[in-house]
Amino acid sequence: MDLYEYQARDLFEKHGVPVLGGAVATTPAEARAAAETIGAKSGGVTVVKAQVKTGGRGKAGGVKVAKSADEAEQYAEQILGMDIKGHTVKKVMIAQGAQIAEEYYFSLLLDRANRTYLALCSKEGGMDIETLAVERPEALARIPVDPNVGIDDAKAAEIIQAAGFPEADHAALANVLKQLWEVYHDEDATLVEVNPLVKTEDGQILALDGKVSIDDNSAFRHPEHAEFVDHSKTDPLEVLAIEKGLNYVKLDGNVGIIGNGAGLVMSTLDVVAYAGEEFTGGAAKPANFLDIGGGANAEVMADGLDVIFEDAQVKAVFVNVFGGITACDAVADGIVKAYDILASHGKDPKPLVVRLDGNNADLGRQILDEAKLPLLERVDTMDGAARRVAELAAAAN
Ligand SMILES: Nc1ncnc2c1ncn2[C@@H]1O[C@H](COP(=O)(O)OP(=O)(O)OP(=O)(O)O)[C@@H](O)[C@H]1O
Ligand SMILES: [Mg+2]
Repeated sequence: MDLYEYQARDLFEKHGVPVLGGAVATTPAEARAAAETIGAKSGGVTVVKAQVKTGGRGKAGGVKVAKSADEAEQYAEQILGMDIKGHTVKKVMIAQGAQIAEEYYFSLLLDRANRTYLALCSKEGGMDIETLAVERPEALARIPVDPNVGIDDAKAAEIIQAAGFPEADHAALANVLKQLWEVYHDEDATLVEVNPLVKTEDGQILALDGKVSIDDNSAFRHPEHAEFVDHSKTDPLEVLAIEKGLNYVKLDGNVGIIGNGAGLVMSTLDVVAYAGEEFTGGAAKPANFLDIGGGANAEVMADGLDVIFEDAQVKAVFVNVFGGITACDAVADGIVKAYDILASHGKDPKPLVVRLDGNNADLGRQILDEAKLPLLERVDTMDGAARRVAELAAAAN
């Protein structure tokens, strides 16, 4: 889960990373009120910053320095509602203005390829760090960080040396790096990025921007992170799927897809996309990714069908199951029970094509045939089922 800058700022503050005052506003009037309070500490100067989960806000006109509360209100008016790379700005942060002398760069991230953490650090922050990394890689220090040790005094010194900071800043920088490690470690982050990390005219080191990604697998030990979840941005069907514990991603098409195992579901999307082009001239396309996992019991199958049937765009559904640990007869039972559960919710079924293969496939097929479920068809090959479901979806368009 990626956090907004204002949320990252609050986490930084919690762990003692030096930050400036900041408050979030959703209307120009709120922005003005915040600027009056926050600007009082910086001669009336504040910075109005678009809160969107994408980079390059400054370049897009989403970061503006305001010299008064009046100006902050005007800038908030401009920035709220702005589109930045497909993200609509719904909130701005009013940040205290800093007197910047130098802009640096620091980040800590998960280096999967090398099975370690990695610190990236440069004296040349503020700008596009990706460009710096490509054009002048020597200006960006890359130091592996042992997850068992983290950033201690020695590691902080190593990073600061490698990035070539002046001696005078070493002590203050080392403290900030250790605190940012604490954020990374204690909050179970996979990314903590500060760009810019600044030195002010009076020599303080401050985190002026923050990007934090939290590892969702750590949710069980961070109930407090639930407040960061942003339901406003998520598709309502995805929210419903999350509530039901399903692995679901909404797509644009009209063929609902359910399978067991991420790999099988991915290849099901491929064969449906292919069949849609080949046999219906593009009139059928996958409507979602939904992996019901290995233990596909009736409840999970019903939940999956429930979510997919909720999608008004879906005209036909493809259930593609390869029986493994959960055998096909159990899956077939699941589908039959799912129909009962859906009927008890007052939901009408949609055309459903089922392909069962693998462990106990014959028994599974027999169960479905005997159940005579309305609108359900069985096709024994994956390609054949994909073609059939594409035709059904195209015909219903
Ligand atoms: N509180 C502040 N006081 C003074 N200047 C600021 C402040 N916050 C940001 N700035 C200036 O604005 C620039 C851009 O701000 P920031 O880094 O937050 O956004 P960005 O880098 O454009 O966005 P993103 O990080 O999403 O790419 C900074 O490099 C800095 O020069
Ligand atoms: Mg930035």
